[in-house]
Amino acid sequence: MDQDIGGAIVALRKHGFDSLPPLGIVLGSGLGPLADEAAGAVAVAYVELPGFPVPSVEGHAGRLVVGAIEGRRVALFQGRGHYYERGDPNAMRVAIDTFQSLGGKSLLLTNAAGGLRTEWRPPSLVAITDHINFSGTNPLIGHAGADRFVPLTRAYDPSLIETLHRAARASNVELHEGVYMWFCGPSFETPAEIRAARTLGADLVGMSTVPEVILARRAGLRVAAVSVVTNYAAGLEGGDPSHDETQEYARLAADRFKRLLRAFIREAP
Ligand code: HPA
Repeated sequence: MDQDIGGAIVALRKHGFDSLPPLGIVLGSGLGPLADEAAGAVAVAYVELPGFPVPSVEGHAGRLVVGAIEGRRVALFQGRGHYYERGDPNAMRVAIDTFQSLGGKSLLLTNAAGGLRTEWRPPSLVAITDHINFSGTNPLIGHAGADRFVPLTRAYDPSLIETLHRAARASNVELHEGVYMWFCGPSFETPAEIRAARTLGADLVGMSTVPEVILARRAGLRVAAVSVVTNYAAGLEGGDPSHDETQEYARLAADRFKRLLRAFIREAP
């Protein structure tokens, strides 16, 4: 079931890319505009890259933008594919494998999430330290070969988490730490599911990122992830999340989040 990255590589070559920078960032809700701030940027629409996801979610542009931020070339994935769009946990496989194959080494994933800690007022920022995948699915199901047995003990690279905290201090941004639990969506969780998630040890809930982490670790990339808490999770502190609320709070956090990312780009190995 290996999805072929050959078509995407040929298409990128036509756009002048024989390689990609070592640092990639997947820009989640509200963060897309960071790509417009990249200097000397070249953008390629996902529709031109065979196997890349064509996002159907408002606010997700669907472009790979390569340009300089803080004087450093980065690959910005402006928009992502989600499992809930087509029921495909491999929505980001070709994008991730292509990045790795053309020189990518580290991938920073960003997302919007519901918060399970009452002390995290939306829109707080949280570095993900670990995840819970009780969704019943996994992008590596059906994948043949011993490399399907991907260790996830330190999936979120401890030294990149340290870099995130350094970046937070340098940019004067408060950054918490927490465990992210993946819910496949697209409906939001019930209050009972959120109570269960809390009991299981989750601090955040969201509909993305986890399949990407698994795919990226299989590809041998170093991974870090940051959530913007756009809302209290369902039933918590009156939490009653909606798409509009998540979009609005993601936008409210955008400037602070961008400051953190710029500092991370400066500090990253
Ligand atoms: N649940 C799941 N995904 C989310 C949430 C939430 O409360 N907020 C933003 N993305």
